[in-house]
Amino acid sequence: ALQRTFSIIKPDATKRNLTGKIIAKFEEAGLRVVASKRIHMTREQAEGFYAVHKERPFFGELVDFMISEPVVVQVLEGEDAIAKNREVMGATNPAEAAEGTIRKEFALSIGENSVHGSDAPETAAEEIKFFFSDDEIVG
Ligand code: CMP
Repeated sequence: ALQRTFSIIKPDATKRNLTGKIIAKFEEAGLRVVASKRIHMTREQAEGFYAVHKERPFFGELVDFMISEPVVVQVLEGEDAIAKNREVMGATNPAEAAEGTIRKEFALSIGENSVHGSDAPETAAEEIKFFFSDDEIVG
């Protein structure tokens, strides 16, 4: 079914000027960018967005990283967009990511892994709402 998912092009990627190359990967996979903005996340936004991870040992490092440089937040639309996006991103750890995936080609480490993508329909809906109002999404 036609789905929407939420994506972040992370600081390690914006810093290395890889935004366009990453968006090209999404588009080649059949995903359409239906909303997009470049933002510099506040600490409050990053802590709120990643609240589910707040007990993890890497939480502080994750938040510091996500506010270290601008990011590009996007809504991607397509057939089975959530799974399709996860496939094109590759495994969280770039050392385990398949050939041709974004993380295999661009990610530096498990933390500096170039992209975030929603993992399920419920989280996709929540994450989209966290950064976008309905009128900013143009399908
Ligand atoms: P993301 O999909 O953005 O959601 C949580 C993030 O935590 C994940 O991608 C990783 O980039 C990051 N992460 C997971 N495990 C580690 C780790 N061991 N050290 C640092 N960051 C991590």
